[in-house]
Amino acid sequence: MPPRLDNKVAFITGAGIGGIGAASAAAFAREGARVAVCDILPERGEATVDEIRAIGGEAIFVQADVSKDDEVRAAIGRTVAQFGALHVLMCSAGGSIAEDDFIADVDLSVFEHTMRLDLLGTMLACRHAIPEIAKAGGGSIVNMSSGAALRGASPAHVYTAAKGAIISLTRALAGTYAKEGVRVNAIAAGRILSKRILDSIGAPGQAGPVPDRQDAAGRLKDYPFWVGGPEDIASIALFLASEESKMITGATIPADGGRSAY
Ligand SMILES: NC(=O)c1ccc[n+]([C@@H]2O[C@H](COP(=O)([O-])OP(=O)(O)OC[C@H]3O[C@@H](n4cnc5c(N)ncnc54)[C@H](O)[C@@H]3O)[C@@H](O)[C@H]2O)c1
Repeated sequence: MPPRLDNKVAFITGAGIGGIGAASAAAFAREGARVAVCDILPERGEATVDEIRAIGGEAIFVQADVSKDDEVRAAIGRTVAQFGALHVLMCSAGGSIAEDDFIADVDLSVFEHTMRLDLLGTMLACRHAIPEIAKAGGGSIVNMSSGAALRGASPAHVYTAAKGAIISLTRALAGTYAKEGVRVNAIAAGRILSKRILDSIGAPGQAGPVPDRQDAAGRLKDYPFWVGGPEDIASIALFLASEESKMITGATIPADGGRSAY
């Protein structure tokens, strides 16, 4: 069987080392894709490129702040110039600078940062990638939403709203661009022990599986054994990026170990 992304070119935002985007970049490269690793931080992005080259894959680093239109346009342009086409976009740049952001007292700078990074960042990458993917004959977009957007009782109101908007954007784009062969799906991830999360709970920062998925402070108590690693989301992103999911567009896949099911 040929590799699942043979002859495909993928552009992944927020693909700096240690996160979901980086794990997905490596998974895509292992399946034959040439990958543009996009991140705001060159040292994190270059580290992902090194990791991909070390496993025999092909990758370049393209720096961009996803909330800046001209930078995203230029990064996608550079990718197409280097690899000749674009077939897959994954929008993984995102997150929140505040653990809780109740609307009652959230600082508006947190609101603006979250909306620009998560929602605007996803929108800009989609708007510059879609014409290229359509020109290449079609392909797939994978957006990162969150399990928080599928539940009530989230203490992160702004982040939840941004991730909910990504679900709506995903569905709207899927309907609009289906006839051009562009599929658009989202993943609503539960707690994933990426570098950012490990740093925030004080555990050693490392990519890949974490043997003990509880932290001492009990911060992950709502996920008794459902806390995943970046690689657990990468496998779903790979499925959505590949032709194996050709029947699926406009969908949001909950990948939260079942937390949103009850
Ligand atoms: N980790 C989780 O528990 C979890 C759960 C649900 C959803 N998600 C979502 O998954 C995605 C990835 O999360 P993660 O935990 O791997 O994050 P991460 O912080 O490990 O990785 C995000 C990457 O984005 C980069 N980045 C930050 N701002 C940027 C910008 N303006 N432009 C370009 N790159 C930028 C960072 O440098 C970093 O390399 C995010 O959208 C996040 O909201 C994560």
